[in-house]
Amino acid sequence: MNIVKEKILVIGACGQIGVELTTELRKLYGANNVVASDLRDEHELLKGTGPYVSCDVMNKEMLHVLIIRHNITQVYLLAAILSATGEKNPALAWHINMQSLLNVLEIAKEEKLTKIYWPSSIAVFGPNSPKQNTPQHTIIEPTTIYGISKFAGERWCEYYHAHYGVDVRSLRYPGLISYKSAPGGGTTDYAIEIYIEALRDKDYQCFLSEDTYLPMMYMPDAIRATIELMEAPAANLSVRSSYNLSGMSFSPKEIGASISKHIPEFALTYKPDFRQQIADSWPGSVDDSLAQNDWQWKPQYDLDTMTADMLKNLADKV
Ligand code: NAD
Ligand code: SER
Repeated sequence: MNIVKEKILVIGACGQIGVELTTELRKLYGANNVVASDLRDEHELLKGTGPYVSCDVMNKEMLHVLIIRHNITQVYLLAAILSATGEKNPALAWHINMQSLLNVLEIAKEEKLTKIYWPSSIAVFGPNSPKQNTPQHTIIEPTTIYGISKFAGERWCEYYHAHYGVDVRSLRYPGLISYKSAPGGGTTDYAIEIYIEALRDKDYQCFLSEDTYLPMMYMPDAIRATIELMEAPAANLSVRSSYNLSGMSFSPKEIGASISKHIPEFALTYKPDFRQQIADSWPGSVDDSLAQNDWQWKPQYDLDTMTADMLKNLADKV
């Protein structure tokens, strides 16, 4: 991997992805070259590992000063309101998800930052998109405010790249599963809770129905995909909105069966709530052949290897 000298700002560094991405970026670029920032107090796992600055991404002036003061060249923007929380306050989700991105893109244009990373989601797809192997380019009619904001964000990214030359890169993450930092209010969070409850109580009541298939990915694959995309030569990238990205696809029943191989007495029941409607609007699997072709994406984890790793790592935490 060709790592050039960069100074990176991670916004939303204390969230589910931010903690692990910041840690990995610090290994690659050097601790002092990666500034972590968030609204929250610094996450325990980040303390002592590099610089931390409290910053509200919605305050454009404060963000601009921070970027100049720290000689920032790249920004990873992870602050957002996720799908389930977004449905409870759609106006707030739209405001935060859109304005945070516009603030970063505008500063990137003005300061000629070298690269920006901003994640989209499988939530851009809606009930009229093909359900299986959903293509990169297809009907995109999201029905959640989260998905609407991600789709609009993708259009802004492509626009800033085409009109102002901002090198902004993006992935449509599937639901991400991890054990280091808690998830932030998504529909796919059941696939994390299920491991914690299986270890703690040996039972779990799932808020999605047993046959709800969704695209998912283990966090180590997601972090690697993010860094591989950011390190790919710009000329190789044919997608400047956001790349489809695939890891695995499973239902609550299948993840339950995978856990039962380690905890035979595990009991799984189902009580779908408002998140079922969100999940039903999303694909069961996505086609990521452009990511495979353009920057040689290949996931490493499947359901059973992820289950073994999650249970091993959560065992002394619950
Ligand atoms: P998260 O909710 O765990 O973390 C977001 C972080 O942003 C939090 O620490 C929060 O305090 C911070 N934040 C919120 N508002 C802020 C503000 N105004 N200023 C500064 N910081 C603020 O979310 P995550 O799961 O880490 O997701 C990160 C990104 O990846 C989001 O854009 C999300 O939509 C996207 N994504 C996540 C998943 C997933 O499964 N986790 C899947 C697809 C896409
Ligand atoms: N995991 C995310 C969510 O459920 C998908 O973007 O909101």
